[in-house]
Amino acid sequence: MTHKILILNGPNLNMLGEREPDIYGSDSLEGIGVACQHKGQTLGMAVDFRQSNEEGELVTWIQSAAKGYSGIVLNAAAYSHTSIAILDALRAVDLPVIEVHLSNIHRRESFRRHSYVSQAALGVICGLGAQSYLLALDALARILDEE
Ligand code: DQA
Repeated sequence: MTHKILILNGPNLNMLGEREPDIYGSDSLEGIGVACQHKGQTLGMAVDFRQSNEEGELVTWIQSAAKGYSGIVLNAAAYSHTSIAILDALRAVDLPVIEVHLSNIHRRESFRRHSYVSQAALGVICGLGAQSYLLALDALARILDEE
């Protein structure tokens, strides 16, 4: 069976490539999406890669993943540090979640060190740029294989 994986990106990640490249690198979000699609193919997974600047839209997408998806990779961006609504949605769907960040949130301002998303995540991968997403797909493939 092909697992469907939902990869969600939060606010301002549509500006990757132009936005603070010293922190987030020069990859565009589109480029990361293509790399994730290719990685998914090698792992026998169908990847659905999306971005929204709106908290409510991310919550709605997480809720709808309960039907038909096997796991979630989530870079909630700034909402990681603020959103109880996203945490509650992740808890409601009961799917394996891997939290990712491009930057190492533990090396930056102290307000980035706390993430609500982490409380619902099986694992957290940060600081490795686009590679954070690809490693998250590897991790999910293994977790789903073991189920
Ligand atoms: C981020 C880290 C967050 O603190 C920040 O608000 C982002 C991006 C990352 O991928 O490094 O927008 O999630």
